[in-house]
Amino acid sequence: MSTSTTAQIEGPSAFPQAAPLELRHVCKRYAGQREPAIPDLSLEVVAGEVCVLVGPSGSGKTTAMRLVNRMIPLTSGDILLGGRSVLEREPNELRREIGYVIQQVGLFPHQTVSDNIATVPRLLGWDKQRTATRVHELLELIGMDPDDVGPRYPAQLSGGQRQRVGVARALAADPPLMLMDEPFGAIDPITRARLQDEFLRLQERVRKTIVFVTHDIDEAIMMGHKIAILRQGGQLAQYDTPAEILTNPADEFVAEFVGADRALKRLGLATLAEVELLAPNGLKPGANKVALDTTVRDALSQLLAAGGEPLTVFDEREQVAGIVTLELLGGLLGNGSLTAGEPASSGGQGGEPAT
Ligand SMILES: Nc1ncnc2c1ncn2[C@@H]1O[C@H](COP(=O)(O)OP(=O)(O)OP(=O)(O)O)[C@@H](O)[C@H]1O
Ligand SMILES: [Mg+2]
Repeated sequence: MSTSTTAQIEGPSAFPQAAPLELRHVCKRYAGQREPAIPDLSLEVVAGEVCVLVGPSGSGKTTAMRLVNRMIPLTSGDILLGGRSVLEREPNELRREIGYVIQQVGLFPHQTVSDNIATVPRLLGWDKQRTATRVHELLELIGMDPDDVGPRYPAQLSGGQRQRVGVARALAADPPLMLMDEPFGAIDPITRARLQDEFLRLQERVRKTIVFVTHDIDEAIMMGHKIAILRQGGQLAQYDTPAEILTNPADEFVAEFVGADRALKRLGLATLAEVELLAPNGLKPGANKVALDTTVRDALSQLLAAGGEPLTVFDEREQVAGIVTLELLGGLLGNGSLTAGEPASSGGQGGEPAT
């Protein structure tokens, strides 16, 4: 476990830990239930990556999370964290190593924000100074003023602020794995978009292994390196990158789940930098400009708004990078030439939710 004594956290070194997670033929049958909630689930999450579990209500997402940190017992199969079976671990000790953010945040109402964040460090017996330093550092990391917010009680925060504190609390002991069960589920759309953005930036710095549950396919596309789509009955319908799921849905269920606009969503994962633009010569540079780091989806929408007039693409040094036209982008939709590319960023930052 590392402690950084600097208030300002620089780069990922302050949070060096991330462990791979593997579910091997996991089965969970609740007592008294005829059908298992999860019959046979296998998946691997690479250390430092975000795996999003998505699927309809009752498809076993929360069950899968609770099996990982042993809040409920496995019926059969195994789960390995950092190559080691969780079944070999003492459950309380295991839970201190896994950050858990639940839907209603679950902050302790009678404890201050600082005390809430200090929960696991206290359980681990950290001394006062180390704990206080850590709490201070985490509040700064989530963009909150430690002196202002630290002494407040959860009821004195907005929903979005409580959610951030929940994330800080889960990060407190620098866990190699974070489980986040619909962390932004109860938040209004505008705050939610901001929290999603913040989350991606935070993840770039802390690089935790994260299992993230959501109902929302747009959130999944934006957050996940990989998306696991569960269907009713706890079966894994597809486990793949957002780009691959959008391009090649495994079956009807997945296609319907990701939505009829999946081709458009796919365009939200790529930027113009990944497109072979038309050479500027020959075409008169139009009055309409667009930046090279614009998503293909946004560029398409800008083209439509401009009545189909070509857009001149500028790079970050204000140099003309090329021309983009409706025909060019329309062609990409048809020929699948964006399918080979990676998402716009590791976390799919370019994948704006549909508006
Ligand atoms: N303690 C329990 N006892 C019996 N059955 C349970 C229990 N907890 C969950 N289940 C059942 O297991 C299945 C999966 O539930 P789970 O909570 O994992 O779904 P979920 O995908 O998280 O759903 P939601 O999106 O609504 O949160 C459901 O059919 C549910 O009714
Ligand atoms: Mg659930």
